[in-house]
Amino acid sequence: MTQRVLLTGGAGYIGSHTHVALVNAGYEVLVLDNFSNSARDVPSRLETVTGQAVHVIEGDVLDRALLDRVFADHDIDAVIHFAASKSVGESMRKPLAYMQNNIVGLVTLMQAMDAADVRRLVFSSSATVYGSAADLPIRETEPLSYGNPYGHSKLVCEQIIEQTVASDPRWAVGVLRYFNPVGAHPSGLIGEDPAGLPDNLMPYVAKVAAGQLPVLSVFGDDYPTPDGTGVRDYIHVFDLAQGHVQSLAALERDGTGHVVNLGTGRGYSVLDLIATYARASNRDIPYKIAPRRDGDAASSYADPSLAKTVLGFEAQYDLFDMCRTSWVWMQNSAQKAEG
Ligand code: WQD
Repeated sequence: MTQRVLLTGGAGYIGSHTHVALVNAGYEVLVLDNFSNSARDVPSRLETVTGQAVHVIEGDVLDRALLDRVFADHDIDAVIHFAASKSVGESMRKPLAYMQNNIVGLVTLMQAMDAADVRRLVFSSSATVYGSAADLPIRETEPLSYGNPYGHSKLVCEQIIEQTVASDPRWAVGVLRYFNPVGAHPSGLIGEDPAGLPDNLMPYVAKVAAGQLPVLSVFGDDYPTPDGTGVRDYIHVFDLAQGHVQSLAALERDGTGHVVNLGTGRGYSVLDLIATYARASNRDIPYKIAPRRDGDAASSYADPSLAKTVLGFEAQYDLFDMCRTSWVWMQNSAQKAEG
């Protein structure tokens, strides 16, 4: 019997790529999205990529009455919860909005799931719960901390999940701690589409390569790293999407949950990424050295071994693939904007 999965935030960057991976794996998918941070034409683009109709409900996970109707009207077997605010910088300016959207949103969703007897959940967490002083490579047993309201909200969500599972073993929850998701679907039809100035490195580099921004500021070149710039574990968004499919399968198989890192285990510096992007796009990427950004760690990269053991997860794409697919998406969306 085909499993039906509700994707909250399913029109977003990671949600849309996971939609494709789930359809490819034979799941039926239902999308709930308020389109606060996703383009309204993503569902139609998903239909082109998957060749299948996309079922979308416009709404918010904070709307309990809507959630109750969704579970009553659709025979849902599991939920993947992407719908959350995710900008570190914005969270510093709007902490209460982040607590409301990310924490109250999760609680409302889990209450509606419980009332509908749906207790299989995959939760989108982040390596940001390790704070900036973690031992490397980062293992899931590393002490948790936070350096900003976004990371704080993710940590509280993980604690809420832990307490819920402890109180009711009928719950099976996969907590996935993403490292740095980048890249786009090879078709170039879906990808990262940040509104305004990108916070993150890869989408900023993409806009500089496309000539939409004049120069990249490299936040510090005096870190204790091989070339002095920040080192991160960049993971292709399609690898990340596959990890969600494997997490769902593990919940179904084991009847219990897991907390795993989703990363490649390889760290690349800012200058590594700039050089790789220049090769992948055949474009110059002007940059200048700027002061360090508050809260940044020098290095962060995963020990990915637990995800391999528990889920069978192993990242397939390399940094060039991440840059190349990002560039194809950048060109397509630039042509669409001109068109
Ligand atoms: C990467 C490196 C910067 C921009 C954050 C969140 C994390 C996740 C991914 C949500 C760092 C440097 C960046 C720029 C730069 N988000 N940089 N110039 O900070 O590792 O992670 O985004 O889940 O939770 O914490 O990613 O891409 O912002 O930075 O030099 O214009 O690039 O200093 O070394 P980060 P990032």
